[in-house]
Amino acid sequence: MRERWEELKEKALRELEEARDLQEMEEWRVTYLGRRGALTKILRSVGKLPPEERPQAGERANRVKRELTQAWEAKVEALKGRAIPPEERIDVTLPGRKPLLGTIHPVTRTLWEIYDIFAPLGFQVVEGPEVEWDRYNFELLNIPKDHPARDMFATLYVAPPYARSQEMMLRTHTSPVQIRTMERFCPEPIRVLIPGRCYRYESVDATHEWMFIQVEGLAVGQGITMADLKGVLTAFARQMFGEERKVRFRCDYFPFVEPGAEMAIDCIVCQGEGCRVCGYTGWLEILGAGMVHPEVLQNGGYDPGSYTGFAFGMGVERIAMLKHGIDDIRLFYSNDLRFLKQFS
Ligand code: PHE
Repeated sequence: MRERWEELKEKALRELEEARDLQEMEEWRVTYLGRRGALTKILRSVGKLPPEERPQAGERANRVKRELTQAWEAKVEALKGRAIPPEERIDVTLPGRKPLLGTIHPVTRTLWEIYDIFAPLGFQVVEGPEVEWDRYNFELLNIPKDHPARDMFATLYVAPPYARSQEMMLRTHTSPVQIRTMERFCPEPIRVLIPGRCYRYESVDATHEWMFIQVEGLAVGQGITMADLKGVLTAFARQMFGEERKVRFRCDYFPFVEPGAEMAIDCIVCQGEGCRVCGYTGWLEILGAGMVHPEVLQNGGYDPGSYTGFAFGMGVERIAMLKHGIDDIRLFYSNDLRFLKQFS
């Protein structure tokens, strides 16, 4: 009799172990604990035992029943997930948490707008390295060593041994990619936009960052004149800042262009009347430009006797600041979502 109980208990527990879901748990309960189950049957047979054996057998039978019932309950709880400690339980009725969706950075957005204006004019986007050789950043752009024009670009040189030789630097502008593009495309005509990070060893304030994004433009071909430069840049200014914009070109100096110019638009805040934004001049300077210097064309492999070209460069943050009335360049790079989300 005693062996039968133990055998039954072990078999039952073994099968309980194997049950994988509530359905199988229910089947197990009917088989062992149900009204017609194995345990009930044996329990009933206790009544047929001689009276002196009944108490002991009854006690044993009830103990097995209790043990099996407990084991079953524990497993049902576990399967239902109630065995999870309270702090780990999840409330599936809670509203879902919205995933944080990123937004496009305002400088990227502005850059894309610039691409959209120049693409129909035939300008394709090319890129170049941010760590640059002195040769490309300066020398081939007509800025030899010890030339005073180097003072225009407060330069960050990269780690030794290059820092000491000053041969390698973080590019101070995107113009070195003019040379790289000419080397790559020569003798084909060129129309490219060159975006990218630039670096300068400067103290940071509302209008200066040590890292900023420029976009350069370069067109090289036969018969390109200053009229093309003015036409293309006027079209750009009007699409970017409004069809009614006036533009102003004034002489400026950059060693890699001749003639060189600075382009301004009439102030978009006061329409040229004079206000705080334009420093009471009525004009906003937006970019530097010029006809590619013959020396630079030559350095890029083009014969300046038959090829000409124009180039321009602008700070994308400045364009975005003017367009959106942002008065501090540092906002772009301080990771303040309250600022960045306004441009989604
Ligand atoms: N590279 C110049 C700068 O960073 C801008 C420029 C580009 C001027 C192309 C003329 C032509 O200041």
